[in-house]
Amino acid sequence: MLAWIHGRAVGYEDAGAGDPVVFLHGFPHHRGLWAPQVSALMDRARCITVDLRGLGESEAGQSTTMDDYADDVAALLDHLKIERAIVCGLSMGGYAAFALWRRHMARVRGLVLMDTRAGADAPEGIRKRRDMIALAQERGASGVADAMITGMVGKSTREKCPEVVDTMHAMLESAPVSGILEALHALMERPDSTPTLATITVPTLIVVGDEDVLTPVAESETMHRGIAGSRLEVIAGAGHVSNVERPAAVNHVLSEFLASFSLS
Ligand code: MLT
Repeated sequence: MLAWIHGRAVGYEDAGAGDPVVFLHGFPHHRGLWAPQVSALMDRARCITVDLRGLGESEAGQSTTMDDYADDVAALLDHLKIERAIVCGLSMGGYAAFALWRRHMARVRGLVLMDTRAGADAPEGIRKRRDMIALAQERGASGVADAMITGMVGKSTREKCPEVVDTMHAMLESAPVSGILEALHALMERPDSTPTLATITVPTLIVVGDEDVLTPVAESETMHRGIAGSRLEVIAGAGHVSNVERPAAVNHVLSEFLASFSLS
C-alpha cells in the first residue's frame, strides 16, 4: 500500500488486528524483511511494516537523517489514526526507533530493539561507510549486496540454509541506489543514542542473534544495562537478521512480549 506523507509516497502494509506494532527494517532492506513476523503475529497484533524513505516502495528524500525516518513513521501513525504503537526496529530500524523515541515519545508504547546498537559510528565505521558509498556508485546495489551478505547472515544459516542467504541477497540487490546512498548518509551522521537509553521508560525487549557480527551481542548487553527493566533475548544460531534466520524463536519472544501488554 502507499500513503502520501510529507509530499512523498510511503510504502507500508497494515495487516491483522490487535495492539499496533510498527516494524522498521534495517539497511538496505524493505518491509518484506518482516514477512515471517507478520504471518505469525497478525492473529494477535496489528502489524504495520514500513519502507523507510528511499527503500522498498517509499520515495527518496534528500539529505535524509534518522530524524526524518522517525518523522515519517510518526506521520504514518497519524495517517492510520494510531495514537501509540509498539515499535520494533532491526539494526538501522533500531536507530530510527531511538530517534522516534526522542522526537515522538508519546507515540511509543513499547520498544523492540533487534540486532542493533546504541552507539554512533566510530571513525573506522565512517571510513567504511565512505567505501560503501563508492562501491554503491561504482557497482550498484549488487556490489553492496555482495559486500554485505556474509556479515548480514550468520554462520549457521550460511552453512545450513542457503535459501535464506539467497533471499537476503535478493532483497539487498533490489534496493534502489539512491535509497542506499541516502541511508548511508543517515547512518554515518546519526547521533550517539547511548544517552537516550536511560530516558526509556516503556517496556523494552532486546533481541540479538548470537552470531551477529555487525551488531554483536555485547552491543545488546550495553543496551540492556542502560534501559531499566529491559529484557534481553539471545537467539542461538542466528546472525544479524535473526528474525529471518530463526523466525520461530524470534516470534516466540515477540509473542511473549506482546502478551505482556494485554496483562498490563
Ligand atoms: C543494518 O542492518 O541496518 C546495518 O547493518 C546497520 C549498520 O550498518 O549500522
